[in-house]
Amino acid sequence: MLEPREIVEHVGRALGTDAAYGGRRVLVTAGPTREAIDPVRYVGNRSSGRMGYAVAQAAWRRGADVTLVSGPSSLEPPVGVDLVRVQSAEEMLEAVKGTIGEADLTVFAAAVADFRPLAAEAEKVKRESVGDAVDFTLSANPDIAAGTRDLRKSGAVTVGFALETSDVIENAKKKLEKKGFDFLVANDVTEEGAGFDVETNRVTVLAPGADPEALPLMSKHAVGEEILDRAARLLGASG
Ligand code: PMT
Repeated sequence: MLEPREIVEHVGRALGTDAAYGGRRVLVTAGPTREAIDPVRYVGNRSSGRMGYAVAQAAWRRGADVTLVSGPSSLEPPVGVDLVRVQSAEEMLEAVKGTIGEADLTVFAAAVADFRPLAAEAEKVKRESVGDAVDFTLSANPDIAAGTRDLRKSGAVTVGFALETSDVIENAKKKLEKKGFDFLVANDVTEEGAGFDVETNRVTVLAPGADPEALPLMSKHAVGEEILDRAARLLGASG
């Protein structure tokens, strides 16, 4: 038997299909990645997955076929969505590579760890074996958004996020250009009610050739709808 949450989403999809999304394929990345130090420890971050899950659920409700590539998250899987669970950035990259060529819209909402331990230890590192200080070397993880740019479907719309703690607009503009996003959603993790593991977000939208647009504090669901509204206009323009 369907749970109430599932019934609400199915009814929402039946009543609320958006012509811009019916028959479209949407790919969303969400959550953190975990980079193994040893079998029990990892390098990670505080992303809950809420932002990406909200986008994925809203896209499905609008009629899209949605693939959600998610790092570890305790959230309920969005209803109707094809959920691909991964742990590390490298696993997330492989999952994105396998799907992005089909996607009409991709939203990169995941907080991918930029670094990983150079080599994960096969056994749990013992407290006694390391003394008072532990040295381990980190190596750079692949940039999933930039590294899959050439695999994007022709005419697809690609949306990125930028997670900043200072100089938000300046840093976000660089990411918009470097990663080839059609638009970018910047959030400042130091602001109350924004960023990691809260139900709300306060974002600024940046697009090439346009002034940055600061949006008010909203629920992550409302931010998701806003992203889909903006992407729908671009999808319409690209046929
Ligand atoms: O999950 P929540 O708790 O709801 O929190 C939401 C969020 C804060 C994680 C989300 O709103 C957000 O900002 N996601 C992007 C976080 C991030 O890693 O930003 P960044 O500025 O480091 O990366 C810029 C863009 O490149 C992002 O679209 C990111 O997904 C992508 N990226 C980053 C690094 C990497 N190695 N590969 C990537 O694809």
